[in-house]
Amino acid sequence: MIYFDNSATTIPYAESLRTYQEVASKIFGNPSSLHNLGTKASRILEASRKQIADLLGVKSNEILFTSGGTESDNWVIKGVAFEKERYGKHIIVSDIEHPAVKESAKWLSQHGFEVSYAPVTSQGFVDLDQLAALLRPDTILVSVMAVNNEIGAIQPIQAISELLADKPTIAFHVDAVQAIGKIPTQSYLTDRVDFASFSAHKFHGVRGVGFIYRKEGKKLQPLLTGGGQEGDMRSTTENVAGIAATAKALRLVMDKEETALPKIALMRNLIHDELAKFEDISIFSGMSDDFAPNILTFGIKGVRGEVVVHAFEEHEIYISTTSACSSKAGKPAGTLIAMGVPTKQAQTAVRISLDDDNDMSQVEQFLTIFKQVYNKTQKVR
Ligand SMILES: Cc1ncc(COP(=O)(O)O)c(C=O)c1O
Repeated sequence: MIYFDNSATTIPYAESLRTYQEVASKIFGNPSSLHNLGTKASRILEASRKQIADLLGVKSNEILFTSGGTESDNWVIKGVAFEKERYGKHIIVSDIEHPAVKESAKWLSQHGFEVSYAPVTSQGFVDLDQLAALLRPDTILVSVMAVNNEIGAIQPIQAISELLADKPTIAFHVDAVQAIGKIPTQSYLTDRVDFASFSAHKFHGVRGVGFIYRKEGKKLQPLLTGGGQEGDMRSTTENVAGIAATAKALRLVMDKEETALPKIALMRNLIHDELAKFEDISIFSGMSDDFAPNILTFGIKGVRGEVVVHAFEEHEIYISTTSACSSKAGKPAGTLIAMGVPTKQAQTAVRISLDDDNDMSQVEQFLTIFKQVYNKTQKVR
């Protein structure tokens, strides 16, 4: 089996699963309980929060746990909107955001807010001049992802931070779900960023855990009310085992970054160079440093992405038609459409997303099978 769909989800690390099992079976108390089982659970929870905060270079009280990337995005987008609505009702999200952001913004637009979509260039980067032109006195929130999940384009978070430097009343949110462990933390957690979203299953943690970074002092309405957990910001009994497993996974991923990222880039570059030799290939991801090293999105001209995905699946090679969410819906990649790629061409797109788990022999097997798939689809082309 060759798993090249790591942007959809990663295989949990064995160490992370072991931590989950240990904590779930031995430190099972409810962190809110007064007895010592509760205290033990609460200590693990806070130690995990501190470890994650330290790894990201932020403060412990700036990390709030959630159930994943989607909840993190929903919470920030809606929570900021409701918190700041007395100052204005205009929000801006980029045109290539994940549905977790875009749909949250759309929901707000059905509940009295106005949403503008910041366009991207033909390469897939938010257009700074057009973003600047959308800013208004009643703008309360700007949300731009750090790394695009469909083509890997690294968004100009530093430049947007500068653009917003003299507009402190606008909250700046960054969806960092695809960025963590792939690009340097300081490139997307700038001093100007107020909120950021993360998801554990994208970095070898377990499913059902995420967190947000909320800069100290920045206000957000809670979405879950109840027993007052997470400083009264998100009520529900904490997933202590999942959170401990998340801290473990993050430490491992960050420890490996220095060796893993060049290795991943090498594999990605080799695949790119080989694919580029074929005539009927469109390559949608760029290869410069402005793109994350792990993602390569391409298409075989005239052949729908799902046909290619299933052809590889026959050989137990797992890739995807761009994002996992758009693939089942059969929609072409929203990012490609926003870049101006014609729909027919966008429908050919498939994404491979690599990880340190992968190796060169898998790359070679992938390329061998690619030749077969390419030849098999000759008639369609
Ligand atoms: C950029 C981005 N944001 C948010 C999400 C949603 O994360 P989750 O699956 O943890 O809800 C994803 C998942 O693919 C993503 O790629």
